[in-house]
Amino acid sequence: MPVITVANPKGGAGKSTATLVLATSLAQQGASVVILDCDPNRAIEGWRGGNSRNPVIVDGGVTESTITAKIDEYRKKFQFVFVDLEGTASRLMSRALARAQLVVIPIQASPTDAELAARAIRLVQEEEQAFEKTIPYRILFTRTSPAIATKLEKHITSQLTASEVPMFRNHLNERSAYKALFYYQLDLDELDPKEVNGLPAARDNAFRLAEELINLVIDVKAAA
Ligand SMILES: Nc1ncnc2c1ncn2[C@@H]1O[C@H](COP(=O)(O)OP(=O)(O)O)[C@@H](O)[C@H]1O
Ligand SMILES: [Mg+2]
Repeated sequence: MPVITVANPKGGAGKSTATLVLATSLAQQGASVVILDCDPNRAIEGWRGGNSRNPVIVDGGVTESTITAKIDEYRKKFQFVFVDLEGTASRLMSRALARAQLVVIPIQASPTDAELAARAIRLVQEEEQAFEKTIPYRILFTRTSPAIATKLEKHITSQLTASEVPMFRNHLNERSAYKALFYYQLDLDELDPKEVNGLPAARDNAFRLAEELINLVIDVKAAA
């Protein structure tokens, strides 16, 4: 089943957060989901060490030599395989890109992020050439305001649109709930509304984004 690789050479772009939000949201809705945590910070593996009853499986023991075999093994057993990548370009990244049905490239609405996203796209295109296959990708805006699109955000969006760069319609907005996931080591349904602000909106955002992702990977499979 689909392998979703979350990549952007920039650290802090929101990769681990987007991965955990999407994977826990799908798992909470009943899908079988595994995350290969390849971020050297092992933030997601750390999260799994907490008390969450969310059924998502996390494998933090992935190396450059085992990643391809692990992806192939997991994709037979799980409905969704997520790969959360490290910040820098590496052989491991290249292998995870080569196996992806969809590459999610999280960026914040900043000029540096847009530039680094272009680099991430080039890395995907290099793998496409090397393996002579199409690897679909989508930019995901992270940490945007749910209320207003800044001028910069609009500018970056129109530039990406002009260059025909595909983007998720939904963003992963800036929400303290997404930070709280890691802090309390729980999922969005388990967090306590008395401790965490804006939970319903954070859950709704996660649900819509997960829904868009499902439709994308279904489309990708149908087109394959
Ligand atoms: N949607 C969001 N809302 C609030 N904080 C976020 C969001 N996305 C990322 N962050 C915060 O930004 C920082 C970097 O995010 P992270 O997911 O670790 O990035 P990466 O994995 O790309 O290095 C973390 O402190 C995280 O809590
Ligand atoms: Mg990370």
